[in-house]
Amino acid sequence: QRKYAVFGNPIKQSRSPFIHAEFAKQTGISLQYRAIRVELDDFDRSVTDFFKAGGSGLNVTVPFKEQAYQLASRHSARAVRAKACNTLKPDGDGVYGDNTDGIGLIRDMVANHGWNLRGARVLLLGAGGAARGVMEPLLRESPECLVVANRTLAKAETLAQEFADLGKVWARGLTDLSAELAFDVIINATSAGLKGETPDLPDSLLGDRCCCYDMVYGAEPTAFMRWAAENAAWAVSDGLGMLVEQAAESFYIWHQERPDTASVINHLRGSLA
Ligand code: ATR
Repeated sequence: QRKYAVFGNPIKQSRSPFIHAEFAKQTGISLQYRAIRVELDDFDRSVTDFFKAGGSGLNVTVPFKEQAYQLASRHSARAVRAKACNTLKPDGDGVYGDNTDGIGLIRDMVANHGWNLRGARVLLLGAGGAARGVMEPLLRESPECLVVANRTLAKAETLAQEFADLGKVWARGLTDLSAELAFDVIINATSAGLKGETPDLPDSLLGDRCCCYDMVYGAEPTAFMRWAAENAAWAVSDGLGMLVEQAAESFYIWHQERPDTASVINHLRGSLA
């Protein structure tokens, strides 16, 4: 039986063992997948030990994705852009690092929800690791423009510059959005919601048939999702589908099989309530 795991801290809340067990059932692949809490100063050693002991693949979550990138000896192009890895596998004497978060977000928005990104005006809230991880896949969908808005303007400016070769990317401070034209898609990649906070956004940001996506999920709608719904957004989603889609892409990297995600999303949705 091949061994897989997700490393994080904290890790108790992780749904990845359930998701990968469901994918394994569907595809008839025999595997073990565990959630392992790694001490903050013990990440590199834990990864090395895991692969030395015959582990076949790792997912990496908060707060180790940047460290995973540093540790990997070879990277996918999308991991290089993200400067972070959430998926690792052995690669000769070294480790291959990929990042499936961005493609997970795109698949959920485009394939699952049917939202349109091509030619859309897109607003991305936040400029931390979560925002960086989705920049390249977003720009590859050819939006009309991508505005990155962050509390700390300088970080948005850095991101915008770094991805300027892929399309029209503009940086704004969170507080100077009132002068913006309305958007077709708004994505929340700030961690504000996790602390029960919400950026104070003008409702003029919501265009006709505006689609609003929060990259986090939980039993209750986030503050950002409530703001969107109260202001008559056309569609509102949390990040549960992104979670399952990024897992499906990791599954593909390890097993070259594409599992059905809809049934797993539905099951998880039921268990959140
Ligand atoms: P992650 O990996 O989740 O992106 P991060 O790299 O620490 O975590 O980034 C957190 C993001 O949430 C940042 O964009 C941060 O804004 P700053 O760069 O100005 O710190 C944003 N954020 C966190 N709390 C926020 C709040 N209360 N209001 C607005 N933005 C917030």
